[in-house]
Amino acid sequence: MQKIKVGVIGCGMVANSYLNTLQKFAHVEFGACADLMQERAEQVAAEYGFQRACSVDELLAGDDSDLVLNLTIPAVHCEVNLAILESGKHVYSEKPLGIKLEEAQQVLAKAKEKGLRVGCAPDTFLAGAQQQCRQLVESGAIGRPVAAFGAVSGHGPDAYHANPHFFYEEGAGPMLDQGVYVITALLPLFGRVKTVSARAQIGVTDRTVLTEQRFGEKIEIKTPTHLVCALECEEGGMANLMISWEIWASKLPNMEIYGTEGTMRLPHWNNYQSDFDLFTKEEGGGDWQNIETDRPYVGGSYRGLGMADMAAAIIADRPHRASGERANHVLDIMEGLVRSAREDKPIEMTTPYDRPELFAENVQEGEIDHLL
Ligand SMILES: NC(=O)c1ccc[n+]([C@@H]2O[C@H](COP(=O)([O-])OP(=O)(O)OC[C@H]3O[C@@H](n4cnc5c(N)ncnc54)[C@H](O)[C@@H]3O)[C@@H](O)[C@H]2O)c1
Repeated sequence: MQKIKVGVIGCGMVANSYLNTLQKFAHVEFGACADLMQERAEQVAAEYGFQRACSVDELLAGDDSDLVLNLTIPAVHCEVNLAILESGKHVYSEKPLGIKLEEAQQVLAKAKEKGLRVGCAPDTFLAGAQQQCRQLVESGAIGRPVAAFGAVSGHGPDAYHANPHFFYEEGAGPMLDQGVYVITALLPLFGRVKTVSARAQIGVTDRTVLTEQRFGEKIEIKTPTHLVCALECEEGGMANLMISWEIWASKLPNMEIYGTEGTMRLPHWNNYQSDFDLFTKEEGGGDWQNIETDRPYVGGSYRGLGMADMAAAIIADRPHRASGERANHVLDIMEGLVRSAREDKPIEMTTPYDRPELFAENVQEGEIDHLL
């Protein structure tokens, strides 16, 4: 079997989730890994069997990585993505592709110039239950989708992340860090977004780090932490989203979609949940049904599935699903929402979006279609 050699730049907290997923795929092998903190790269190399741990420059100069996973912090995603492409390797980036649309577009332009591919998280829309929801919607299970509701209702990473500062920088915040999942889940169901509007604020202004290493350090907040958003889609649907890190507890649904014939309560947008709820209108009422998917990639963390698909797509010479163009449209929407609140006006989207192909129904855990 042809294999794709994967390199990693950035061996922090999220690296384990990716590598646990990627090691399930026979068409992926681990080449080199690098981090500004050499000991982190060495630890990851030892744990996952990389051929070597090295500096970023050494990784880029080497020929033991065809496709490089960028797991650095958002502020440097663009420069690292550009350096990977410049070195002649494909890139799969953690979200966002850049902290500004302008940056993401530079990355896409560089890939085009070099004839290389760009992929980008989130890949949660590839999870089995999300795939099944889309197939049901496309087969008319709720009629024509009319509206959607989505919520991020948390209190931020202050209490669980060792280094929460970057989450409050431009290019992060609840919108770019978590709203990104809600919008990613929405697009395959509702299609391209045309116009966005939002209001935003910062509620709690005196946050401190609550985890051990940097306990008590003050966090500077440079991005809105509560956004109320309206999205209008080209195909006619509308969504209202509440994206917030000002909420200690909530019983709101994470995401629901409303159609002319029913309602779907979607799986959680970020955790590869295996079940969802479907309400179908019937004469005299209707009923809720809980559906447990029998498709793979649910019930755990499968971060990296989009990259496994990209590696398979390189081998099979077909488009990959978690594409940079898709991430670019998501970023356009997120940036538009933050800008709409700041400038007090609706913002028109400028980027294209095409729905990626659904996974084949017969795909099993550890497989990607087109390689079957
Ligand atoms: N932690 C999570 O639960 C989580 C979940 C989903 C997505 N993400 C995303 O993953 C990315 C990384 O998050 P994390 O939680 O692993 O952060 P982290 O701070 O734990 O790790 C980031 C790593 O990148 C390294 N790094 C930074 N700049 C670099 C550079 N220029 N070259 C080489 N290495 C560099 C750092 O030394 C660090 O080891 C972020 O974009 C984040 O939004 C994180």
